[in-house]
Amino acid sequence: MAKLAVPPLLVILVLLQSATRLPVAETSTADQEYMHRLAAATGAERLLGWKADSDPCNGSWVGVTCAPFDGNRIIQIDVRGLLRGGGTLPELDRQAGSLSHLRMLDLGDNNLTGPVPTLFLDRLLTLRLDGNAFSGLPHSFFRGMPELHYFSISDNPRLEEWGLWSDLLSLTELRVFNASNANINGTLQVFLGNLGAFPALAEVSLARNRLTGVVPEKLVSQSIAKLDLSSNGLSGSINFINNLASSITDLRLDHNHFSGPFPADLSGLYLLSVFSVAHNRLTGVVPPSLARVWRLSWVSVSDNLLQGPVPELPDSVKTDFAEAAVKGSFCRLDVHGPCDQETSSLLSVAAAFHYPEILAVSWRRDDPCDGWLGIHCGDGDGGGGGRNKVTGVNLSRLGINGTIDPAFASLLYLEAILLAGNNLTGTVPASILQMPSLRVLDVSNNALEGTVLSVRHDVLILADGNRGGLNVTAIAASGSFSSSRFQLSEATTPFLTFAAVFVALFGY
Ligand SMILES: *[C@@H]1O[C@H](CO)[C@@H](O)[C@H](O)[C@H]1NC(C)=O
Ligand SMILES: *[C@@H]1O[C@H](CO)[C@@H](O)[C@H](O)[C@H]1NC(C)=O
Ligand SMILES: *[C@@H]1O[C@H](CO)[C@@H](O)[C@H](O)[C@H]1NC(C)=O
Ligand SMILES: *[C@@H]1O[C@H](CO)[C@@H](O)[C@H](O)[C@H]1NC(C)=O
Ligand SMILES: *[C@@H]1O[C@H](CO)[C@@H](O)[C@H](O)[C@H]1NC(C)=O
Ligand SMILES: *[C@@H]1O[C@H](CO)[C@@H](O)[C@H](O)[C@H]1NC(C)=O
Ligand SMILES: *[C@@H]1O[C@H](CO)[C@@H](O)[C@H](O)[C@H]1NC(C)=O
Ligand SMILES: *[C@@H]1O[C@H](CO)[C@@H](O)[C@H](O)[C@H]1NC(C)=O
Repeated sequence: MAKLAVPPLLVILVLLQSATRLPVAETSTADQEYMHRLAAATGAERLLGWKADSDPCNGSWVGVTCAPFDGNRIIQIDVRGLLRGGGTLPELDRQAGSLSHLRMLDLGDNNLTGPVPTLFLDRLLTLRLDGNAFSGLPHSFFRGMPELHYFSISDNPRLEEWGLWSDLLSLTELRVFNASNANINGTLQVFLGNLGAFPALAEVSLARNRLTGVVPEKLVSQSIAKLDLSSNGLSGSINFINNLASSITDLRLDHNHFSGPFPADLSGLYLLSVFSVAHNRLTGVVPPSLARVWRLSWVSVSDNLLQGPVPELPDSVKTDFAEAAVKGSFCRLDVHGPCDQETSSLLSVAAAFHYPEILAVSWRRDDPCDGWLGIHCGDGDGGGGGRNKVTGVNLSRLGINGTIDPAFASLLYLEAILLAGNNLTGTVPASILQMPSLRVLDVSNNALEGTVLSVRHDVLILADGNRGGLNVTAIAASGSFSSSRFQLSEATTPFLTFAAVFVALFGY
């Protein structure tokens, strides 16, 4: 798909020209004049036999192709890797129409230096400037080439920093934009936020630049097959990947600062083959729907803050899951199988909070009692099983948003749930109030709504200060709930005793 530069007509012209020695007209003086300056400035005079006194279209100029039926104008210059002596590019004379019939210009791998001149080349389809040492691009560079299909400027580390500005939007025919390692800074808002301007855009590589900010929400494309944004400073969510679902085959987002969870449903990415998100700050469980991305061949996720089970993928898919597991992603090292039941329940709780980073950095591996933030453990009801049970969850004032997941209720030994002072919305699941072990529930100072039915006098419920208007309604007890009637008769763990007293005294 990358090599779509040369239209068949051009190939025929080239063949015709080399096969038959047609008596050709004199080359346009504007073309001649520019080519002689180019020959002198790049050393092509010496290296490629571009003689000062000769016609660039007389057949002896290596890499130059002319159109004999079209006024003998130069249509192609391909000197990739042939000018290793370096040199610079002369300014183009727009008035004179120099090279105005040029379709293809390949100056790649030549170690050229100096600024790239403004190229007013109305018919140019392919421009390859990669592998040089250019010092800068002119202002509004892309306005001069309205037909451009293929552009590459990768590996030009000496370019003065430049941004993806609105002059790009004039490239309405663009198919390939390859600008990795080209010193681009700024954001993607203009370029990828206006993909409607590029209906045929198929490949974008912006790896190894200095791009920052988020990937625009308006990024929607049904044409992009390859997108490489790796090794930049991009941040925010990767939810945008679903906006590329119908066309994307190769998606590289590694080595950035992307954060938050994966989109829950990845199964719409049905053409995706290469998927790399390693070295970011992604949190949470890799969605099982990844297994329904049939064409996957390579998945890379290491060095994130992933949790939960290793995704189950067919053996044909190469991954770095083993490396990721060793580095602490996933609950288990031995690749397959679900996590411990308490781990699974707590990860469901974290999922409803959108897998916040503050939990993801701490809730790793498979033992919640091994120092997980806000998790308190005890012997449970003393079954003597040896392993500690989760008896308290204190996630007060951690800046968490989202909802309270009913999975709390599957933590069978849980006595205290403290979630005060966050930004939680929705209602308190009824199943939580029915947990036989529960003694303290503090959901005060959130944005919860609805009503909590207090049916047991041995459960202390704090629900004040909820912006959603959460109410506590006592049933089977007369009057409203009063914390002074709470009795700590069945308290079994030091944390519960502490939590109950703390909560009762200080109100959070
Ligand atoms: C092209 O011009 C150069 C210089 O005038 C000459 O040496 C060469 O023979 C010419 N080539 C052809 C194919 O006519
Ligand atoms: C490229 O050019 C620079 C200076 O013009 C020179 O230092 C460098 O060695 C050249 N590199 C190659 C690969 O020719
Ligand atoms: C972009 O350029 C790099 C380096 O020159 C090359 O490896 C890659 O294949 C190119 N990608 C496309 C889509 O042309
Ligand atoms: C990009 O680099 C240029 C030149 O160093 C600088 O003037 C500009 O502020 C930078 N833009 C951003 C968004 O960092
Ligand atoms: C929820 O919290 C996360 C950080 O954990 C933040 O990125 C996100 O914007 C918050 N969402 C809302 C709706 O406030
Ligand atoms: C709740 O969210 C709002 C807006 O997203 C934020 O300004 C506020 O600081 C958050 N409150 C807490 C307690 O995290
Ligand atoms: C909470 O209770 C008050 C007083 O009983 C009532 O006016 C209000 O509508 C209730 N709010 C909700 C959300 O149920
Ligand atoms: C719960 O966590 C908050 C915030 O870390 C802390 O201030 C509070 O003392 C804790 N409460 C209990 C009962 O441990």
